[in-house]
Amino acid sequence: MTVSVQLHPELRKWVEERLSRYPTRRSLLVPTLIQAQKYHDYASPGLMQAVADLLQMPASEVMSVASFYTLIAKHPVGKHIIQVCHNVSCYLRGCDEVIARLEERLGCKVGETTEDGKFTLITVECLAACGSAPVMMVDEKLYENVRPDQIGRILAEAN
Ligand code: FES
Repeated sequence: MTVSVQLHPELRKWVEERLSRYPTRRSLLVPTLIQAQKYHDYASPGLMQAVADLLQMPASEVMSVASFYTLIAKHPVGKHIIQVCHNVSCYLRGCDEVIARLEERLGCKVGETTEDGKFTLITVECLAACGSAPVMMVDEKLYENVRPDQIGRILAEAN
């Protein structure tokens, strides 16, 4: 059973202010789901239903789109989401060492959240910055040419 969610009034306001700039309500879907994470913990089925109602589109379509984007969390996550690319360019340029250092510093494995709830660590297929491999993101900030010895500084910036 889906637990119903009331959209945060600020999120509703954010959407209403932008509707005139988009050709259709549904074209605001991805920005709305990303913005929703500022007011709701994650894109739960209830949240996706509420967004679907607001944008006047089927919930199944919202869920389908959300499933495509790693930036849209579909389960409870930490305050900050760390995404590390592990595709070919990043793999060849040492993402494994970056991931290992992150796991060591955070005390959790890929796919997990730190005990204090601050960070969730995930790997992704490509962050579209292959020429600067290895790359990672903390929330919306991209880090390029990452070396394991930079991880402490990067994590401190997110605190
Ligand atoms: S392969 Fe890592 S950013 Fe594209």
